[in-house]
Amino acid sequence: MTAGPYKNPAPTVDVIIELPGDKIVLVQRKNPPLGWALPGGFVEYGESLEEAAVREAREETSLEVTLIRQHKTYSRPDRDPRGHTISTVFVAEAQGLPKAADDAQEIGIFDRLSLPSPLAFDHQEILQDYFNHLTVRTVRPPSPQDNEERIGQVLKLLKNRIPADTQIGIILGTGLGGIADRLQDSSSLSYQDLPFFPQSTVASHPGKLIWGTLAGKKVLVLQGRFHLYEGYTPEEIGFPIRVLAAWGIKFLIIANAAGGLDPNFLPGDLLMITDQINSTGENPLIGPHLETWGPRFPDMSRVYDPHLRVLAEKTARDQKIPLRRGVYVGVKGPCLETPAETRFLISMGAQAVGMSTIMETIVAVQSGMALLGFCAITNVNRPDHPEPVSLESVIQTAQSAETKLSALLEGVLAKLE
Ligand code: HPA
Repeated sequence: MTAGPYKNPAPTVDVIIELPGDKIVLVQRKNPPLGWALPGGFVEYGESLEEAAVREAREETSLEVTLIRQHKTYSRPDRDPRGHTISTVFVAEAQGLPKAADDAQEIGIFDRLSLPSPLAFDHQEILQDYFNHLTVRTVRPPSPQDNEERIGQVLKLLKNRIPADTQIGIILGTGLGGIADRLQDSSSLSYQDLPFFPQSTVASHPGKLIWGTLAGKKVLVLQGRFHLYEGYTPEEIGFPIRVLAAWGIKFLIIANAAGGLDPNFLPGDLLMITDQINSTGENPLIGPHLETWGPRFPDMSRVYDPHLRVLAEKTARDQKIPLRRGVYVGVKGPCLETPAETRFLISMGAQAVGMSTIMETIVAVQSGMALLGFCAITNVNRPDHPEPVSLESVIQTAQSAETKLSALLEGVLAKLE
C-alpha cells in the first residue's frame, strides 16, 4: 500500500492501546508525530518520547495507560523538511474503555483482528502492518485460559478434516520438509489458515499442517516450525505442540538441521538425539500453569523415549543406515557459533547444536508424548579449523540427508504399535 498523499497537518496514530476483550484504541494525535516534532513543543521539557506518548494517551482517553513497548519506528521522508524523519508508534495497555471515546474525534476503538476499511488515516499501512503482526503475535501474552480457547478453535477447524485416530505427529525442520511429499492420501492446511498459528518467517520452512498416511500409519505433519530467533516467544513456539497434544498425538518425531560438534562427524550424517541441553535461556513453561497441561515440574530424565530409540537403532541397523547418536544443545541463534562458543558447547557434553527443537520438546514432555528426535548434520564445527557456514549449504546438506531420514522414519513408523 502506498502512503499519502498527506493532509496538512497529517493525522497520525501515535499510541495503540490494547484493551481486554480483543479491542484496541488508536490514539491519533492532533499534533505532528512525536519523533517528527522533536525537539519541538510536543514533548515537554525533560520528558522522554515514551513519557510523552503515555501522557498524550492519558490526556486523550482519560485512561490509566501503561506503555508496553515501542512498536515500530517508521521513516517518513515525505514529512521531513530535511528529507528524513522518524515516526514512532507506541503500544500501550489499559484497563476499561476510554470515557472520551464517544466524543473524541481523535480516538477510535476497533476490534483488534479487523482493520476497518474506511480508516482515513495516513498511517493505514502502519496499522495494517500492526494488525498483521497482531494476528501472529500478541503484545500481551495470552493467559493459559486464552490459549486453551485458541487451541479449541484450531481443533474445531481440524475436527472434520483429520482422521480422529491420528496419533503420530512429525515436525520437519530446515531442508527436511520434502519428507511430507511421501505421505499418501494427504491433505493440508497452510499455517495462514489456522487461527492463532504462528507464521513461518524462514524461507526454508514452508508452514503447512499436512495429514495423511506414511508407512501405513496416520500422521500429522508440521512442515515448518518456529524459532526463538524469529522473535517468537517460547509459548508461541509451544502453541502448535499444545494443539497436537489436545488433538491426541501420542508419539512425536522431530527432525531438524544441526551443526555437528564431534570432529568425527561429516556433513550429511544422521544423528539420533539421545538427550538435550537447553542453552537458550528460555522455557515455554514459565508463567501461569494449567493443571490440564501436565506436571508443573516435568521430569526430564527421559526426554527421548527409550523404547522408540531402541526401535530407531534397530531400524537403522536393519536398513544399513549409518546413525550417529548424541546430545543436542539448543541455542537461540540466529548467529552461528564462534569457535570459542563451539568449544564451550563441546565441553558441555553436546554432539550437535541447533536453533530449534528444545521449546517444542519441553512442551511435548509436559504433555506426556513419547518423543524421538533426529538431526541432519549439515556442517561440522571444528573450533581449531573454523569454516564459514552458510544457510544455503545448511539447506542443501539437509536435503541430501532427507532420503536417509525418510527411509529411517518410515521404517520406525512401520513398526510403531
Ligand atoms: N549451529 C547452530 N545451528 C545450526 C548449525 C550450527 O552450526 N547448523 C545448522 N543449524
